[in-house]
Amino acid sequence: MSYPYQIKTFEQYQADYKKSIENPEAFWSAIAENFTWRKKWDKTLEWNFTEPKIEWFKGGKLNITENCLDRHLEKMGNMPAIIWEPNDPEEHHRVLTYRKLYEKVCQFAHVLKTNGVQKGDRVCIYMGMIPELAIAVLACARIGAIHSVIFGGFSAQSIADRLEDAKASFVITCDGAFRGAKDIPLKSVIDDALIGNKTVKRVIVATRTRTPVSMIKGRDVWWEDEIKNVETLGLTDCPAEEMDAEDPLFILYTSGSTGKPKGVVHTCGGYMVYTNYSFVNVFQYQPGQIHFCTADIGWVTGHSYIVYGPLSAGATTLMFEGIPTWPDAGRFWEIVDKYKVNILYTAPTAIRSLMGFGLGPLAGKNLSSLQVLGTVGEPINEEAWHWYDENIGKKKCPIVDTWWQTETGGILISNLAGVTPSKPGWATLPLPGVQVTLVDENGKEIEQGDADIVSGNLCIKAPWPGILRTTYGDHERCRTNYFATYPGMYFTGDGAMRNKEGMYRITGRVDDVLNVSGHRIGTAEVENAINMHAGVVESAVVGYPHEVKGQGIYAFVIYQGSHGQDTHGTGDLVRKDITQTVTRIIGPIAKPDKIQFVSGLPKTRSGKIMRRILRKIAEGETDNLGDTTTLLDPGVVEEIKKGRL
Ligand code: WTA
Repeated sequence: MSYPYQIKTFEQYQADYKKSIENPEAFWSAIAENFTWRKKWDKTLEWNFTEPKIEWFKGGKLNITENCLDRHLEKMGNMPAIIWEPNDPEEHHRVLTYRKLYEKVCQFAHVLKTNGVQKGDRVCIYMGMIPELAIAVLACARIGAIHSVIFGGFSAQSIADRLEDAKASFVITCDGAFRGAKDIPLKSVIDDALIGNKTVKRVIVATRTRTPVSMIKGRDVWWEDEIKNVETLGLTDCPAEEMDAEDPLFILYTSGSTGKPKGVVHTCGGYMVYTNYSFVNVFQYQPGQIHFCTADIGWVTGHSYIVYGPLSAGATTLMFEGIPTWPDAGRFWEIVDKYKVNILYTAPTAIRSLMGFGLGPLAGKNLSSLQVLGTVGEPINEEAWHWYDENIGKKKCPIVDTWWQTETGGILISNLAGVTPSKPGWATLPLPGVQVTLVDENGKEIEQGDADIVSGNLCIKAPWPGILRTTYGDHERCRTNYFATYPGMYFTGDGAMRNKEGMYRITGRVDDVLNVSGHRIGTAEVENAINMHAGVVESAVVGYPHEVKGQGIYAFVIYQGSHGQDTHGTGDLVRKDITQTVTRIIGPIAKPDKIQFVSGLPKTRSGKIMRRILRKIAEGETDNLGDTTTLLDPGVVEEIKKGRL
């Protein structure tokens, strides 16, 4: 494959950026020409950010899997599409060529069809990182079903909420998943999630761990049996469903500052073009290179840069089932050495955690195949950036610091590897087509003037093809969340700085969303979960700086339950109970790191919790709390300060 739209020089970046802003339609339609369409689009872009209504490649017909699979078969059928490294290094790895992956996707698409899945149905996928997960995702896309992948760390309750919100009629899962030394019983979590569910008709279960599972007659079927079934029926090639460019491709749930997670909806045409374009340009992918993105497909990074971006570009994508620290902290480096990985894309939290093990785990590992390094998910601190640069990239590999979100579909701000300048801690420049700006609290755009650095709230002024179209089942929520704070603009929820060169440094969320180990968690969600625990009267959750996780979760809890006397001692039992409750309601990723018992929370006279004060206390800045005179009971602050953990 060749990528005529791959930017090769900084001058070309500047020229392309200019073109993309002057005439977005001409710019993106020229890029979209490089894909396989059943029918070309009538109109490249129609939009307004008021409703909002955003349509790219309007009237175009396609199937994303024809772009990820079929079009590569003739010339690259024998090229590895997916290399899969199992959790246990002793177990045999698997390689799926484009031909093999095509066959497996077609076969499983038939399985879905014979089980009654139709175009537009919502299919929930809750699996570990095995090739069958990618196959399931692509098989849904093949037949026009809308997939909604849920990360394996979410609890039954979280899954139940998502199933209900999406009105999902099918679930695809595994008996269990291996992650490091753990064996996670996925099917049994699904069984719990399905208690009381009224929409799911069928559960397809792939075997991985051989954990005993209960298979309910009439509802649950084995993946392997179903494959045999379609084999017997002689069903092989599966024609791809013709999709409208604006038909939904998937729903992915993500946390916001209020209420339950919302289902971000991406559509077929724009998402395809944008993930491919950003993949090819940011990582400067060259045909034949091995791309290793360490994310889980349960998050957007896995969707865009393990599955759709790389496969639509005919790349070889490496999928790893396990975790960076098992059996030891050299696992990533061993994988890089074993497969001669060229591009490594990971999260700052992983880098910081591996840094903690020193250079020992790197001994004997040949990392000379690496050409490009990337980070995503949270701001990278300079120390981690330099460690990555010196010890992993040996100062020879450009590091791309890629800023984006579930809602943006693909990378929006990043240097292009080796093509545009990098700067430690800075995501740097927006990709072509992305009109970034900073605004003050009143929504007024901040001018650079003579300032070296300005800061503000990060907004985007016009749509790019990968922008979310709606939040599933509740368009109003999409409007109020992203398009109402600063009318006429998409508001990211992030704060950022900008320097004279127009480079951006993301400083973190300015709303009540936490970023714990690169995972998005809403403070309101965690509070709701804590408040479910019998005996908890009220709680307030804030983030605080954490050396490895980036942010840790600090909970202030008013507790009057029957174990109440325990809070006067160490309170550890109650803490464990509360933690267990959060694990049950959301999942282990949302467990508070610190729980401080308090007798009251700092509130304004109108009853609003003053989180600013709690954040300062959690951060340890207790001398600098600002104005506390508007508090209903300023005394409570003194008590909280004294009890700080
Ligand atoms: C944060 C992950 C700093 C940011 C792709 C954003 C980052 C949130 C970066 C989205 C980065 C992501 N530098 N912060 N390079 N990348 N973020 O939806 O706060 O899981 O709003 O998407 O992660 O998280 P999400």
